[in-house]
Amino acid sequence: MTSDTKTIWWNDENNSIMMIDQTKLPVEFVVIEVKTVERLADAIRRLEVRGAPALGVAGAFGVALSAVSCTSDVEFAETVASDAALLKSTRPTAVNLAWGIDKVLRSMENLPPEMARFLAITVAKTIAAEDEKCCMQLGRNGAALLPQIGTVLTHCNAGALACSTWGTALGVIRSAHKMGKKISVVSCETRPLLQGARLTAWELHHDNIPVTSIIDSEAAYLMRKGKIDCVVVGADRITKDAVFNKIGTYMHAVCAKHHNIPFYVAAPVSTFDVNASESDIIVEERARDEVAAFWGKQTVPEGVPVINYAFDATPLTLVTGIITEVGVLYPPYDFSTLRQM
Ligand code: MRU
Repeated sequence: MTSDTKTIWWNDENNSIMMIDQTKLPVEFVVIEVKTVERLADAIRRLEVRGAPALGVAGAFGVALSAVSCTSDVEFAETVASDAALLKSTRPTAVNLAWGIDKVLRSMENLPPEMARFLAITVAKTIAAEDEKCCMQLGRNGAALLPQIGTVLTHCNAGALACSTWGTALGVIRSAHKMGKKISVVSCETRPLLQGARLTAWELHHDNIPVTSIIDSEAAYLMRKGKIDCVVVGADRITKDAVFNKIGTYMHAVCAKHHNIPFYVAAPVSTFDVNASESDIIVEERARDEVAAFWGKQTVPEGVPVINYAFDATPLTLVTGIITEVGVLYPPYDFSTLRQM
């Protein structure tokens, strides 16, 4: 995907949301039109749109959709508030979703409905455009950290598909590639929903950036064999003591530390939740079937419970650096100066 391909955008003609349906990749590239808040909530739950920054944009567009869909001025405030609450409840861990929703809600405060509708669309579009700029800057900041020639391991999809475009972890890799660095990528498949195999591999292959897909449990052995020069992952939320990202990230961080491999997190300032600690955060647990079945075939005996956390927490003590659009942060981490937008 180039910087011209968008993951999610506003359709002015119909006042609706357009997005790539990520559940169909890599087999089919399908763009869907979302016309109601209920359909958007479903798309978020089903991971048709996913990834922290893209969820921020989806939440922002969702409030705009609610505002333009509600034709009653009397019920306007109540409808928008209840739609915003519905959208926020879809996925609790990625802080960007609530951040995008709240940012648009704040812009509408105390305005008459007609003006609020206009502002909601304008602010939501600005959030999408800012996300793009932010990823580009973050990518440039991180590219300098990658070796001239080397192999980067990444987990899940922190690419263009997880943002408006370009990506965070993959933005760093794309920017390094653009600078002429010879980077190849090892993409962990990311059980159970295979965002690494399906989405990261698809994006990078499409951009002619060398990528190899592995099963998640192969990562440690590749590190042991000296095949990995550094790890770069995205984040769903960064608290004062931990990085929340796709389940499996913590395992890679522990292995990287053991093998003296730098472990970088790439995330915009909007992903920081500087007043919270690891124990404050709700980690999304997803359906049994995602683990107990594979491609429609049952793999776990009936009656055997499964645990399906969507994310894990990596303590900051395992993180070499955090790449943001305002620069690279290093230990000892102090997020108090980060300006929350
Ligand atoms: O469940 P997902 O696919 O939404 O999880 C996504 C991730 O964990 C990404 O690594 C994270 O959102 C960073 S995206 C730039």
